Amino acid sequence: MNKPRRALLKVIVLGDSGVGKTSLMNQYVYKKFTQHYKATIGADFVTKELQIDDKLVTLQIWDTAGQERFQSLGSAFYRGADCCVLVYDVNVQKSFETLNNWHEEFVKQADPVDPDAFPFILFGNKIDGGSSRMVSEKKAREWCASRGDIPHFETSAKEGYNVNEAFLCVAKMALEGE
Ligand code: GTP
Ligand code: MG
Repeated sequence: MNKPRRALLKVIVLGDSGVGKTSLMNQYVYKKFTQHYKATIGADFVTKELQIDDKLVTLQIWDTAGQERFQSLGSAFYRGADCCVLVYDVNVQKSFETLNNWHEEFVKQADPVDPDAFPFILFGNKIDGGSSRMVSEKKAREWCASRGDIPHFETSAKEGYNVNEAFLCVAKMALEGE
């Protein structure tokens, strides 16, 4: 039998408030960026269609609230996810340190069959900040290695740097794990 030519893939984006989750999505899907910060409340999704080899892939990208008081997602929300994007801000050390919590929270809530094999991906955002960088690429790579070789991209939602590349990797990983 031929493999289906279409796939709907659920992607969940997690990370501290202000790291740029919403901005990354807006840059990827709408090619838009705003300096104006508006906290995400609860969660919302956007979709993006792309072609990978002979497949038409629809990414359903779920943007979540980093602020604790706006988080209201039950485990039903996480279940059925095909990929989890973890985001930190390269200029904010704490946003890197809390990755462990976000990773753990996702595993707990989504309860994947094999957490070690689940497709996570790490984005280090706001790479346009110049000398204000606090988290080296090396440190991030080490963290990824310790979690079973998670792919890592440094991005700028502001300048659109590496955003398409990073989400293409998301789509490919989600598709493979499907
Ligand atoms: P929550 O919804 O509270 O979880 O935050 P968030 O992770 O969605 O952050 P958001 O995308 O709202 O961005 C927070 C702030 O950082 C906004 O003022 C953005 O303009 C800014 N920002 C986001 N991405 C970048 C980036 O790549 N570079 C720079 N310089 N600023 C960015
Ligand atoms: Mg947001």
